[in-house]
Amino acid sequence: MNVQSTVSRYSPEFDMPVRGDTITAERYISKGWMDLEMKNVWPKVWHLGGVLADLEEPGDIIRHNFAKESVIMVRQEDGSIRAFYNSCPHRGNRLVLGEATSVPRIVCSYHNWTFDLDGTLAKVQDPEDFAGGSPCGRVHLSELRCDTWGPFVFWCMDDDVAPLHEWLAPFPERLAGYGLDNWVRVLNLSVDCEFNWKIIRDNFNESYHLPTIHPELATFINDGLPDTLFEMYPSGHNSMWMKGHQATTRADYHTTEVPAPLDQIARAWDIDPAQYHGRTGDLRAAVIEAKRRLGPSRGFINYDSMTDQQLVDYFHCTLFPNLTLTMSPEQMQVLRTEPHPTDPEKCVFQHWCLYPPVAGMREVVTPIGSVPLRHDAVARHSVYGDGVSVGFVADQDLSIGTSQQQGLNSRGFKGCILPDQEKRVQRFHELLNDMVRPGG
Ligand code: FES
Ligand SMILES: [Fe+2]
Repeated sequence: MNVQSTVSRYSPEFDMPVRGDTITAERYISKGWMDLEMKNVWPKVWHLGGVLADLEEPGDIIRHNFAKESVIMVRQEDGSIRAFYNSCPHRGNRLVLGEATSVPRIVCSYHNWTFDLDGTLAKVQDPEDFAGGSPCGRVHLSELRCDTWGPFVFWCMDDDVAPLHEWLAPFPERLAGYGLDNWVRVLNLSVDCEFNWKIIRDNFNESYHLPTIHPELATFINDGLPDTLFEMYPSGHNSMWMKGHQATTRADYHTTEVPAPLDQIARAWDIDPAQYHGRTGDLRAAVIEAKRRLGPSRGFINYDSMTDQQLVDYFHCTLFPNLTLTMSPEQMQVLRTEPHPTDPEKCVFQHWCLYPPVAGMREVVTPIGSVPLRHDAVARHSVYGDGVSVGFVADQDLSIGTSQQQGLNSRGFKGCILPDQEKRVQRFHELLNDMVRPGG
C-alpha cells in the first residue's frame, strides 16, 4: 500500500526563504497599521481598475474607488487609455460619481469646470476673473500611470514601480496559452465585509482550509500535499497548481467509483465513468485526450494553445498584495479584497468571473448558477450577511472572515502558528512588514 506523503511541495526553482516574523493581530485591527499601508504599500503596486469591454469608445470612462482614493480611466480620441485622480483641480470635488459613464467632456458638477478627455481644462466660468489669465489649457487633471493586460486595465500611483507587464511576471507568460484577451466578464460581484482585507488574502495564500471549508471540492480537485505544487516568485507573487479532474489524495478520502461531479464531466467528454472504476485517478489523462480531440470542434478554440496541465488543472495565481486570478481552461476568477476607506476591520471583496467566448454558447455555469454569456450579465454589490451569494466557494471563504476578525481581537491571541504549506502566508506578511515599516 502506498503511504501518502503529507509534506508540502515547493518548486525548487521558485521557493523563497522566510524569516519567521511573528504575525500578530495588530495588522488586522490597527488604524495606525492601516494608515501605513495606505502610505507605503498601496501606491507601490499596480491596481486592476476594470475591463476593456467598458472602454470601447472615446469618452467611455470607468471609475475605481479604492479606500479613500478614486481613479477614473478614460478612453482617448487616439484610442489610448489614460487614468486620472477623480478630483477636480478647482476645489477637489469628485468628478465622476458612477461606476461607468460615457461623455464628450468631463464636467465638474460644482462650478462646471470642463475638461477634455485628455484631462486638459477646456472651459471655466468667468475665465477673465483669474489673476494671470484664464486657467484653460494650463490646468490638467492629475494623472496616474495606466496600462493594459489581456482584457484588463490597470493603474498605478507611483512612477518608480516596474512597468505593468514586468510587475505581473511571470503570469503574462504563464497564462498566455489561455488566450485571455477576448474573455468576457460575466459576473461582476462585490460585497462589503466586516473584516480586514488581509483575512481573505491569507485564505487565498493557503489550501490548508480546503478539507474543512470546502469539503465538496475534494471530489474533483486534488488538494493532496505532494500533488499540489506551490511556487513563490522573487516579485512577491506566488502560485499554486492543483490537479483537477481528480479526487484528493488526502489520506482520509477514498473512492473506487468516479465521484460526482466528475462522472458528469466525464460523460460530457464522451467518457464512460464506469471504465474508471478503481482507477479514478486515470480519468484526468482521459479528459486531456478527449479535450484535445473534441474541444476545437465544440468551439473551445483556445484549447490548442493550452498545455495538458492547463486543460485540466487549476492554477491559482496570487499577486502581491491583494489580487488572485484562479484559472481553469473555461473560467477565470478574479478574487480581490480592498481596504475600507476608514475602518481597518472592514473591507470590500470583489469576485469577477470571465469566460472564453464559444461559438453557439448562450449560457455558462458560474459560481452562482447558469448565467447568460455576456458582459456583466450579473453585476451587483451587496453586504455580507444579507444572504446574497458572491459564489458558492467564495461564500464559504467569506463565512470565516467575521469570526476570525473577532478572534484576532482577543488578548489571548499571540500570533499565527503555521505549517510549511502556509509558507506563502508567512512570506506575504514579511513582504508587507518590509513595506509598511521599512527598516523594521
Ligand atoms: S470643485 Fe470642480 S468646478 Fe469647483
Ligand atoms: Fe477557500
